[in-house]
Amino acid sequence: MCSIIGYSGQLTLAAPLLVESLKKMEYRGYDSVGIATLNKGNILVSKGVGKVAEVDQQMQLNKLPGEIGIGHTRWATHGGVTDTNAHPHYSCSANIAVVHNGIIENYQELKSELEKEGHIFKSQTDSEVIAHLLERDYEQSNSSIVDAMTNTCKKIRGSFAFVAVFNNGVIAGARFDEPLIIGISSDALFLSSDVLGFLKYTDKAIFLDNGDIVIIEDKKYTIFDASRKNVNRPVTQVAWELGSADKGKFAHYTIKEIHEQSSTMLKPLEPSNDFETFCKYINNASNVYITGSGTSYNCGLLGKLLLSKFARKRTEVYMSSEFQYFSDTVEPDSVVIAISQSGETADVLHSVKQAKENGAKILSIVNIPTSSLARMSDCFVTLNCGPEIGVAATKSFLNQLMILYKIVYIISGQNIRFDSAELVKLQKSVQSVLDLDFKIRNIIGSLDHNVKDIYILGRSIHYPIALEGSLKIKELAYVHAEGIAAGELKHGPLALIDKESVVIVLNPNDETYRDVLSSTNEIKSRGAFIIGISDLKNDLYDVFIELPKLERYLYPIVEIIPLQMMSYYLAVQKQLDPDYPRNLAKSVTVK
Ligand code: F6R
Repeated sequence: MCSIIGYSGQLTLAAPLLVESLKKMEYRGYDSVGIATLNKGNILVSKGVGKVAEVDQQMQLNKLPGEIGIGHTRWATHGGVTDTNAHPHYSCSANIAVVHNGIIENYQELKSELEKEGHIFKSQTDSEVIAHLLERDYEQSNSSIVDAMTNTCKKIRGSFAFVAVFNNGVIAGARFDEPLIIGISSDALFLSSDVLGFLKYTDKAIFLDNGDIVIIEDKKYTIFDASRKNVNRPVTQVAWELGSADKGKFAHYTIKEIHEQSSTMLKPLEPSNDFETFCKYINNASNVYITGSGTSYNCGLLGKLLLSKFARKRTEVYMSSEFQYFSDTVEPDSVVIAISQSGETADVLHSVKQAKENGAKILSIVNIPTSSLARMSDCFVTLNCGPEIGVAATKSFLNQLMILYKIVYIISGQNIRFDSAELVKLQKSVQSVLDLDFKIRNIIGSLDHNVKDIYILGRSIHYPIALEGSLKIKELAYVHAEGIAAGELKHGPLALIDKESVVIVLNPNDETYRDVLSSTNEIKSRGAFIIGISDLKNDLYDVFIELPKLERYLYPIVEIIPLQMMSYYLAVQKQLDPDYPRNLAKSVTVK
């Protein structure tokens, strides 16, 4: 959720580099920011509440002197959003400063133990205990940093990664269930939560294993495993393109990423993805489970319907935050298809780990091939949609859908049309819906700015899209939105509908069409404002968004696009920042 960066090198002074790196990783969490640099044996800390650019402007972060440093963007978990709770945190002597990502479950016990010994805490965070523990363990281990790191890590319970700078010029890091990556260039070494933190300088990276501790000293790095044994980890070359994200001609990443969809949607189908092996695992399994969180879960819901209906492969789908309570019952002859853009979502990793321990095979669908999820999988395919910077998942969702359709196409023995001719048509259809941008902006412009409730109706395969559309509206525009299986309306939700309600109906001309129309009638008679999304116009709709004609099962791929755009323009209309919705982070690495 937070991002951490450590730097030791001769490329430039530390502070401006740390600030730039944090800007690249701000998507991970962004309520406060801070850096610490080492200057003439003193550790200097500067930090505050706000986004990186704001805090940098106010506090002149980038002017801190020193060639070694650490930095952090925070997404608060323990302790309010205050300057004091921002990282880095000093030890009592100020000879050590620490940045941390994750949660320390036993911090209260550790804190009272340290307080009894005389340590004085300044913040309300769980993170600060690391600085004080390290200080104590460093003294007790005759100034051995590796011993201090090992002993400190042994005392902490939870999932965490942290980086500490010591006033003798050493930077040390530890990885326990949260990402930490070493970046290696001839002039500098980095420790970062994401390759984006150093990709401008080097494409050589080491993805630390869980339990690894790394010490950077005298331009060299040394890695120790949890048993304090010196170990080597492979150096990986990461794709430079990952670092190349910018907004181009667009006002925000989110709308840029929405518009990229027609060009990125076919990328996961390129030969670099081994679908045959992936599908073999599914064919050989007696039970198929799908899991994911948020948007990825919504994609999983559609995957379940498609696999069951078209490939006759019964599938269960669980939200990862729920699956963790059931995944210990997964049978050994099962496959678990885990869907995760980041591949770092704690809920997903945790539930998958349990299923793996039970003997299930793990197949994952990720955007980041070097992610923890990909590395713990028996087989994975990648979204290949390029970096998604907007916190709300858009182009990654579309590519997740494309992958699921491809899987269903293979497993069903081509029972659906998804061949190259169909794909060309589909890509054109996606572009034609993207071309409705101006119309959709105007529709949103004509809505009451204070719209309070938006309902999205859909049946069958359109229901997961209704859920995904409502998630986008909630997170981008902070408007209450609900996806409703249209047939359920009369079983309760109809009571909510009145003249103030805005209802979006997903109603392509397929086997759900007539039934959705009768639900629309029920809504119309309660005076709601109706936006129809369909390939067939109807007088019941106050506003009509026309979809191109497609194979009936392919509509989800195009109908999500107007919903993404509506959410974006609702946010813009309310003068919100769609790229960085409040309280959210792109990569949710805490449970
Ligand atoms: C919504 C959104 C989140 C993520 C969820 C899982 O727009 O982005 O709901 O989908 O946090 O993230 P990943 O897919 O990285 O596991």
